[in-house]
Amino acid sequence: MCGIFGYIGVRKDAKDIVLNGLKALEYRGYDSWGVATIDQRISGKEIAIKKKVGKIGNATVSDLPESGMALGHTRWATHGGVSDINAHPHLDCSGKLAIIHNGIIENYDELKKEIIKSGHKLISETDTEVAIHMIEENYKKIGLLEAVRQAFNRFEGLNAIIVMDGLTQTFVAAKSGSPLVIGKGKDENFLASDAHAILPYTNRIYFIEDGEIVSVSSRKISVHSTKDGSQKEVKFNKVGWDINIADKGKFPYFMLKEIFEQPKVIEDIVNNNEKQIEQFSDLIKKSYGTYLIGSGTASYACLAGTYIFSRIAKKHINWAAASEFGYSADFLTPKSFVIALSQSGETIDVIDAVKKAKSHGVKIGALVNVLGSTLYRLSDYKLLLGAGVEKAVVSTKAFSAKLTYLILLASIIAGNKNKAKKELDKVIISLEEILSDAYLIKIKKLVDIIYKFRDIYVIGRGLSYPIALETALKIKEASYIHAEGFAAGELKHGVIALIENGIPCIAFLPNDETYGANLAGAMEMKARGGYIIGISYKPHEVFDYYLPVRDCGLSSIIPLVIVGQLLGYYLSIKRGLDPDKPRNLAKSVTVK
Ligand code: AGP
Ligand code: GLU
Repeated sequence: MCGIFGYIGVRKDAKDIVLNGLKALEYRGYDSWGVATIDQRISGKEIAIKKKVGKIGNATVSDLPESGMALGHTRWATHGGVSDINAHPHLDCSGKLAIIHNGIIENYDELKKEIIKSGHKLISETDTEVAIHMIEENYKKIGLLEAVRQAFNRFEGLNAIIVMDGLTQTFVAAKSGSPLVIGKGKDENFLASDAHAILPYTNRIYFIEDGEIVSVSSRKISVHSTKDGSQKEVKFNKVGWDINIADKGKFPYFMLKEIFEQPKVIEDIVNNNEKQIEQFSDLIKKSYGTYLIGSGTASYACLAGTYIFSRIAKKHINWAAASEFGYSADFLTPKSFVIALSQSGETIDVIDAVKKAKSHGVKIGALVNVLGSTLYRLSDYKLLLGAGVEKAVVSTKAFSAKLTYLILLASIIAGNKNKAKKELDKVIISLEEILSDAYLIKIKKLVDIIYKFRDIYVIGRGLSYPIALETALKIKEASYIHAEGFAAGELKHGVIALIENGIPCIAFLPNDETYGANLAGAMEMKARGGYIIGISYKPHEVFDYYLPVRDCGLSSIIPLVIVGQLLGYYLSIKRGLDPDKPRNLAKSVTVK
């Protein structure tokens, strides 16, 4: 959520470097953007700014002056509407200091009263602008670093800020919760909310920790504690990541590209990391209570995990939506094991829940996609999903990677890893079928029939229940159709009241113990006029539309959900939407 990029150094096109950096961070989700640069045409080194509502896609900053220092931001509004004025950066009264911010200053109301009393004038409705005036208040007396530190310490909530000072040619950045990294170059330095955006320039990276404040000029970087300002020794690590990841290739959207990458992702997991997966499964085996936590799509992977571990390993594992976990975590003991599932590793609900668990002395495991992310760094044991960069806001390949890991972990505990591997091999074959032109035509034909409906219902049972929830989420996010996923057995306890003539009802019917009861659910909906879309290993007369999915044993949940992902994608396209950037959503949710 929100992208941050700052540049200072010998190049003179700082504004373009920053704009390109913001474009690389675009996938994080935003509603407006802005770039500030030093205007050296003015003697006091004033700041020139361009801010706009909307997408940054084809934007240029050619109207801003050339200089060696610039700062940019993509905003995901929390305080104040989406407008040019509320977009960041914000300036102090003198126009010499600029700030960008990710997060929420929870006590901004009280701080705002103080600075207005001291005579500062605010022009936006944001909490962020309050911060820059607080810094301005002390800047002349105690200098930039100390002014930012003292102001930052008064903010409640989780925040990351960067202040640009043209006069001293310095950035000062501080963070508590939201991600921020420094890239160290030769006579130039970078700041960004994601290391990937910096990699085209340098691979020497430092991930700023919570409670640190940094001062960055073109030749000097110093890291201090926000608590007392004392300086710290830190190491810049060389990261060896591939930078050619931002390309859609032959695909029109990242979402489709990422759907198609899934066979490779699954294959890689099955054929690599064997040792690590075994060690991780051992921790689960030994723990007194294992808890899977995650948000959104990841939370459905957690729910699937409870069925997977029960069925394969005969082991009870709990799950919770990360945002709820903390409210029922009093029972945790140091013998518990909390495993957080997250693509980004930055989701604030997940990070908060992990911190809460840590406060009970619990060891943390992570199934996480982004190396070096906050979750990655916070956890004691980690398995990298290895799904490659996932750019579409609508998550796809990270979900099947999580399912693959959960299946392998449970199978190792049960001592039948080879059976799981054989099933996962079948999944790969099944995906070849599903991702074929003929199958995609079938999906598009179905989309032509259902795309105008306001509601879609999705049922599953047992393992296919989380798949029904995840399919409904894909449809909601990508196409804005209201889709409701639920356990087929719950139909008659309420939802069936909503089924009327022609309403699309998707039923997942894998070849397992749930088949008969699930089919009964489809029939109940059919009897009320529902248009039944059966996704199953065999056809049935109750289906008005049939999408075949080969039986891959318990691992069938992976191809089943991929059919759900494709439905979401093609519904989005048919409705003229952008599946990579659904309205109001962000890829990395770093505010509560
Ligand atoms: C999925 O399509 C979503 N956009 C969303 O639910 C996402 O899965 C959730 O925000 C968690 O993200 P994470 O995996 O990066 O923690
Ligand atoms: N709270 C700030 C605002 O609404 C920052 C939002 C963000 O993280 O993008 O402007």
